[in-house]
Formats: sequence, structure tokens, C-alpha cells
Amino acid sequence: MQATKQIVKIQHPPITEVKSWLSGRVFPAEKPLIDLCQAVPSYSPPAELIEHLKSSFDDSQTFKYSPDEGLSDVRNEVCSWYQRHYQGAPTSDQLCLTIGASQAFWLAISALCQPGDEVIVQLPAYFDHPMGLQALGIKVVYAPFNPETAGQPDIETISHLIGPKTKAILLVTPSNPTGAVISPTQIAAFFELAQSRNISLILDETYNAFIGTTPHLLFNRSDWPNNFIQIASFGKTFALTGLRCGALIADDKFIQQALKIQDSMVVCQPRITQLALEFGCRHLDDWVANNAVTMQQRHDRFKTDFLAAKTNFKLIASGSFFAWVKHPWEDLTGRLAAKRLVEEANLICLPGETFGPDLEPYLRLSFGNIEVSQITEVVGRFQEI
Ligand SMILES: Cc1ncc(COP(=O)(O)O)c(C=O)c1O
Repeated sequence: MQATKQIVKIQHPPITEVKSWLSGRVFPAEKPLIDLCQAVPSYSPPAELIEHLKSSFDDSQTFKYSPDEGLSDVRNEVCSWYQRHYQGAPTSDQLCLTIGASQAFWLAISALCQPGDEVIVQLPAYFDHPMGLQALGIKVVYAPFNPETAGQPDIETISHLIGPKTKAILLVTPSNPTGAVISPTQIAAFFELAQSRNISLILDETYNAFIGTTPHLLFNRSDWPNNFIQIASFGKTFALTGLRCGALIADDKFIQQALKIQDSMVVCQPRITQLALEFGCRHLDDWVANNAVTMQQRHDRFKTDFLAAKTNFKLIASGSFFAWVKHPWEDLTGRLAAKRLVEEANLICLPGETFGPDLEPYLRLSFGNIEVSQITEVVGRFQEI
């Protein structure tokens, strides 16, 4: 049995690949491995959320299917969360709960595009996006990375990439891997560009809870459903990555079509995840805000120490959760540079080229996983190498 040529051409899951380099390796207690690889919060959900889930085990409904789009109480609670955080909100019929942002992305793309269509993707790109697009036979049109603008997408460049087959502009804010946050004004401009060219703006806002301000005001506009699709994740927001907690937000007629795919793909988000999401949206605003501050402090500390340390690595862009650095070895790909860091510094991070073409000089570091107390050690190891 063979996979199609289309699938064979796709890169292997980068985190799995990079973690496989660790197999059989033992790291000494005085210099343990530091994992800068995966973007997961280092903390657990709060005890009250865990208690709430435990108490739901006595109800046999917990273990049953829900409606495909999710329970209406939960979706209403999510809408209230949006109202507080975006000063505007989708209605509950503009929202479908999904198995993480990952599945929301698949729903959006499979309902919007057919093979041969094009989607414009800003480099460096969150690797699962091109991987998903390529699997679906959709052409990825990359907007080039400009190190001078620290990962900010350029509207002029993107407008020139729109062609007759373009279905969407896909942007990630805050960006994985650069941490760059696109301003509300820029987002409005991208929306208007999409509107003027009769295509969609798809925003993946997985890290929206870590910005600290209103991410954008699109939900205030009555015309947003015509040209805007949001890919949402509550995995990072409430530290629930393993419960696979996301949502697709779009025009209600589009959601109705996407539900055909939802039904055949997964039926629904698990109820236990929905209960966690409802609890989080109802009770955890302060908890989330405190964690956003913690993540920002990690970033600020990393940035200050890294710049002061004068390493041979160059910090190109950074934000909550991520730093995008240029490694000093011109003759090495990002993969070989990352392997060298495992060998010589006991640090693991992601090679730049896993985020798209021509990104071999870069590495992505994620500090979601590490405590502020480890940052001095991390920076020291970059200094030594
Ligand atoms: C930009 C971006 N989108 C989507 C995802 C996947 O999110 P989820 O775990 O909700 O599927 C991630 C996970 O790291 C991400 O960084």
C-alpha cells in the first residue's frame, strides 16, 4: 500500500522528527536537556477546572456525542468570552467547536477551496498550514519573509500575489514562529484587501490570549462574515492542548456547509472538552490574564538577556511564546544547526526550514515550556557555543 505522491512530498511532522534525535541519548544531571521545541504552556489548568471535570464524570451525558457544532450553552459562553475580549462577538451559529485549531483549519480550507485553488501564506509559516494545504492539493503561494520587518506581513506584497485562483490570505497572529503581532489597523487593512478582491482573510489566532490587548475589531463590523474566517484555539488559553479545544468562526451559512465535513470527520468536539471550555470562558479571565503576564515576562527576560549576552546568534523577531533567531553557521541548514545545539548545548529547538522554503538560516525557540528561572541557563548555553 502506498500513500499518494502528493502526501509523500509533504515534510514529516517537525516536532516528531526533532524529538527523534533525542532517542537513546542521555543528558547529564549538571547539564540537562532544555526543551525549546514545542509551544505548550508549562503550567496545568487551574485546580477548579480539574475539579469541575472530575465532577462531570458522574453524569452519563459527559460520555455521549453532542450536536456536531457543540452544545449551545457552551457556544453561548464562548460568544460572551469574545464580547469581553474582542469588543464584539460572533453569534453562536457562526461558531463550530472543533478538535483544536488544527481541525478548524481543515474545516475552513476543505469548505472553502478545491484542488488547484491557491492560498497565500506568510513566511515563516506555521508548518501544519502548508502541510494541510498540500495534503488537500491546494497550492501554497508564499509571501516572502523579510527579516527587516521582524515577521510582519506586507500588504503591498500580498496584494500582488492575489490571482484568479486565490481563495484566501492566511495569516497567524501572534505568529508562530516569530511572535509578531499584527496590529488591529493592519488586520482591518487585510480584511479590506480581501473584501476588495472577493476572497477570504483567514486569521489563525491560537495565541490571542497572550497579546494583552484587543486583538482586532473585525467582530464589530456587520460585514465581517462575508470575508473573514477565524481559526481559534483554547488549548493554549486554558492550558488544555491535550483536550484538543478549538473553534471555527465564520459566516453561519459557511458553518452549515462546514458541518458536513465536521460530521464525517469527527462528529463533534468531545463533551469533556466542551465542559472545560465552558468553565474556562465563564470563570478563568483573571487566570488567563495572569498567565499572559507570565509569558510576557519570560519573553522580556529572554530578549533582554539574549541581547545583552552578545551571542553569535541574532535575534530577528520575538514575542510571547517565541523567538526567531539566525544561527551563525552559514554552511549549515537549520536542521544541522539544531542538531548541533542538541549535541553541544543540550538544547532542542526547531529548524527554520520546517516553517517554509529558504528559511535554513533560522531557528525557532519556544519558551512556553520553560520557567523564567531557566532563561539565564538557556542564554548562557547560546553564549558558550
Ligand atoms: C499557529 C498555530 N495554529 C494552530 C495550532 C494548533 O492548535 P490546536 O492544538 O488547538 O490544534 C498551533 C499549535 O501549536 C499553532 O501554533
